[in-house]
Formats: sequence, C-alpha cells, structure tokens
Amino acid sequence: MDANHPVDFFDKQFQKQVSEQSFALNPFEAAVLPHLTGSVLDLGCGLGNLSVEAARRGASVVAVDASPTAVAHIQRVAEQEKLALQGVQADLGNYSIDGSFDSIAAIGLLMFFDRARALELLEEIQRHVKPGGCAVINVLIEGTTYLGMFQPDHYYLFGRDELMYLFAGWKVLELNYQSFSAPDNTEKVFATIVARKV
Ligand SMILES: C[S@@+](CC[C@H](N)C(=O)[O-])C[C@H]1O[C@@H](n2cnc3c(N)ncnc32)[C@H](O)[C@@H]1O
Repeated sequence: MDANHPVDFFDKQFQKQVSEQSFALNPFEAAVLPHLTGSVLDLGCGLGNLSVEAARRGASVVAVDASPTAVAHIQRVAEQEKLALQGVQADLGNYSIDGSFDSIAAIGLLMFFDRARALELLEEIQRHVKPGGCAVINVLIEGTTYLGMFQPDHYYLFGRDELMYLFAGWKVLELNYQSFSAPDNTEKVFATIVARKV
C-alpha cells in the first residue's frame, strides 16, 4: 500500500509495545470481549489483544490490520499458543470481507477513512454478520479535536448519533459515549455500539 500516516503511526507504537511486552486490553476491548464468540472478524485489530483473548476463550478469529509489526505478533502468538487465530496483513481501505461471521469488530478503525469508505466498510461489515450475530463498532465522533494521527483530509468524524441511525433495524445491545483528554489540550470523543442482527 502507499505510505499511510496512521498505519505508520500505529506500527511505531506497536514496535515499542512488542519490545516492552505490553499487551493489555484497552477499555473498549475489555467491555466488548464477551460479545466476540463463535466465528469472529476483527478489523483494524492492532496488536490483536482482543483477538487473542477471544481466541483463548474458544472463538475462531480472523484478525486484519495493515501494520506488519502487529500481524507478525499475532501470527507468533497464534503459533505459540496453538490458537484458532489467523493474522492477515491488508489495507482495509481496499478490502472485501470474505464469508460471514458470528461477530465482526472494528474498534477505532472507521474514522481513518474518508466518509464514503467509512460508510461503505460499515455496510460491508453489516452484510457479513450472520443473522443473530453482533457488530461491535467504536469510532471517534464530532467534538474530537485531537487530529494528529490522521492524514489531513482523509478521516471521518462520525456524527454523535450516526451509529445509532446506521444500525436502524438492529437490536442495539450497548451504545456508549466516552471522552478522553489528549495532548495539547485536545480531546477524543468516542461512540461505541454493540448491535445484534435480527
Ligand atoms: C486506534 S488503532 C485500534 C487498534 C485496536 N483495534 C485497538 O482497539 O487497540 C487503529 C488501527 O487501525 C489500523 N489501520 C488504520 N488504517 C488502516 C488501513 N487502511 N488498513 C488496515 N488497518 C488500518 C492501524 O494500523 C491500527 O492498528
């Protein structure tokens, strides 16, 4: 893929975390872990902490990210622990989901695309969740002023209630909003939805 500022940004962070063996679940991952059962697709999986933990609990997981450091780490853990976990390196700006899954997660991913691609990938996720299965989506929303990790003009801050509207017709199991302080007096505002396909 072409040089990608966010992927480079995260790959450097992941190199540091691998060298420090720092693999804790972030708060969003910890909260949604119980929803990831059966066949799981984790898009923008980062270091795969969520994927690894779901696989340790018996799920069969495909974990996709563009970071070579992250995918190498996931493949190493899968091999060492003999987990049903496949790490795939791919550019999700140009990716089609293969097959259908009991749960599909995209935690902190969709805002790294322009609006058209973010909504297209969300629709693709929704299409590939099995009936009765779950989509687990976490995005940055309007009100976010920390923009340093984005490629200029190539990101999308969702509207505050946009995920709720986009999941019309699904059973919403959880919908949360959280704000965190970021460098230089900025803020990150997140929305997280867990929704069941009816
Ligand atoms: C905020 S991190 C979230 C990682 C993980 N889901 C978590 O919650 O810790 C965003 C992830 O999206 C990945 N990413 C961003 N743009 C991508 C792209 N075009 N293709 C694949 N992965 C991408 C980054 O490499 C990074 O791992």
